[in-house]
Amino acid sequence: MLESARALNTPNKQRVLLLGATGTIGQATARALLRQGHEVVCLIRPQAGIGGKQQMQEWQARLPGALLRSGDVTDAQSLRRDGFAGERFDSVVSCLASRTGSPKDAWAIDHQAHLQALQAAQEAGVQHFVLLSAICVQKPLLAFQRAKLAFETALVQSGMRYSIVRPTAFFKSLCGQIERVRKGKPFLLFGDGQLTACKPISDEDLGDYLASCLRNTDCHNRILPIGGPGPAITPLQQGEKLFALLGKPPRYTHVPVKMMDAIIGVLSLLGRIIPTLADKAEFARIGRYYATESMLVWDAQAGRYDADATPSTGTRTLWDCYATLVLEGTSLERGDHAVF
Ligand SMILES: NC(=O)c1ccc[n+]([C@@H]2O[C@H](COP(=O)([O-])OP(=O)(O)OC[C@H]3O[C@@H](n4cnc5c(N)ncnc54)[C@H](OP(=O)(O)O)[C@@H]3O)[C@@H](O)[C@H]2O)c1
Repeated sequence: MLESARALNTPNKQRVLLLGATGTIGQATARALLRQGHEVVCLIRPQAGIGGKQQMQEWQARLPGALLRSGDVTDAQSLRRDGFAGERFDSVVSCLASRTGSPKDAWAIDHQAHLQALQAAQEAGVQHFVLLSAICVQKPLLAFQRAKLAFETALVQSGMRYSIVRPTAFFKSLCGQIERVRKGKPFLLFGDGQLTACKPISDEDLGDYLASCLRNTDCHNRILPIGGPGPAITPLQQGEKLFALLGKPPRYTHVPVKMMDAIIGVLSLLGRIIPTLADKAEFARIGRYYATESMLVWDAQAGRYDADATPSTGTRTLWDCYATLVLEGTSLERGDHAVF
């Protein structure tokens, strides 16, 4: 009853404040929101993008139709003054995320900056908060997952309408080995390459899905695991596909998970004395997590990942993406953290 009453307040064309618009999914989401007819205001850093290399003008060219504002999302005052600016917004969509995944940055961005944004949104009378999260928070073992989960909990408890989108693996995370295979090097696999599986989702399909949460009442007040089209695929299948597309005989190097455990152990120990090594230990833990945990819905009762229970959206497949990259001889921008 409460939600159907709230749904009546869902305007068709919304005024949206988009956070994290300069990220991989943020850019796709900005374009999707505009395509779906919304008015989009983006709060971005003066120097944004991978390595902070691009300025406002370049972003304006990349995101035509969006209104860009320069400010600091981590500063509560700037958020209010430069972002909300005393204006009316129907929704906040956040694709903001730590670029490094280090514990300190994750708590500062994935948790604290989001808490501030939620508070400012509530003060500004925003109706709906759409959050890009990650499917892996369902089994939280890493600092960035705990930080995300802590904000998810705060958002659910806030009373504001929410859509928490937990996608599976992005294409950029599954394209990192194209270059080495092109150069004739073997494809790296953990174990036999079948320890994990995922239903990869393209940036555009995820952007469309996030944007559609505004109008689609089925996405309101829900936590939404989401993958791309087609069956779940393993790392071994990714390798097979790449070799076939490149017309090369398959060659694999199998990395034992125990080797990663040893590296994590050493880095964790040294990290007690040298703080930068503590971060490296966390990055190794992130790598191990993705080497051993599937990006699919976790069935806690059965104690296994369930591909059939993982919803799909969109039309673009990883195989289409591989085919294009192989044909063009290009690769995808992977960002500051290449492990997740
Ligand atoms: N990779 C995967 O396969 C995968 C799968 C599922 C879920 N996820 C989740 O998706 C999220 C990553 O999405 P993505 O790849 O689109 O992220 P991304 O490309 O790394 O973009 C991150 C965005 O957050 C902004 N940001 C980060 N730190 C900031 C700071 N200190 N101040 C202001 N803005 C800041 C960045 O702005 P600047 O441009 O200014 O740096 C950028 O707009 C993560 O939460 C991850 O857990 C990833």
